[in-house]
Amino acid sequence: MRLTMLGGPGSGKGTQGERLAQHFEVPHIASGDLLRAQVRAQTALGRQVSAYLNAGQLVPDEVVFDLVLPAVLAAAEHSGGYVLDGFPRSVVQAMKFDKLTVEAGAELQRVVFLVVPEAELIQRLLDRAAASGRSDDTREVITDRLQVFRAETTPLADYYRASGILRTVAGDGPTDLVTEAILAAL
Ligand code: AP5
Repeated sequence: MRLTMLGGPGSGKGTQGERLAQHFEVPHIASGDLLRAQVRAQTALGRQVSAYLNAGQLVPDEVVFDLVLPAVLAAAEHSGGYVLDGFPRSVVQAMKFDKLTVEAGAELQRVVFLVVPEAELIQRLLDRAAASGRSDDTREVITDRLQVFRAETTPLADYYRASGILRTVAGDGPTDLVTEAILAAL
């Protein structure tokens, strides 16, 4: 299975993505996790992207592609698939990703769009803030992340709907029920 998780900040892309990766026995590849690992390791790339992460803005496309694409191609070749999370995140990224994966037979087969009301997204992230210490889980940056999601990422739903691979799932129930609903939709 080659799929990606689409959804607002806090919609459960990571939580459900990990479960789906286990279910399908393929790697879970989260663009945000890869970027945060670079920041933690204080690499040159990490220093380049930390301001974007802290502000809740999308990092430049070429940086994300350099990190994510090799992992995707390796997973498709060696593990028979992947569960992506947080990528692609704009129509421009999606079109470029399609182009770069189709030749290798590594293109997306399914896109899971997790829909959760904004009030719940905000509450989940504020609840997580104390425990995780993620620099972008402040009320102000959450507002900006939601704005970026509305402007850049929601048009992706139409893009993937047009190619027939979009599966929209309500993401605001108990975690186990959301997993069941995703598997049923797939
Ligand atoms: P990223 O790491 O992708 O962050 P995000 O999209 O804001 O999403 P989160 O990780 O906060 O939430 P999630 O949807 O994974 O939900 P989770 O399972 O964690 O991106 C961070 C930044 O990196 C971006 O702002 C950008 O700067 C950059 N970036 C990343 N990808 C990029 C790209 N492609 N291009 C450019 N820039 C990029 O759950 C959230 C919380 O809710 C948890 O506490 C969880 O326990 C809880 N929860 C989950 N499910 C449920 C449920 N059913 N009920 C109750 N609580 C639940």
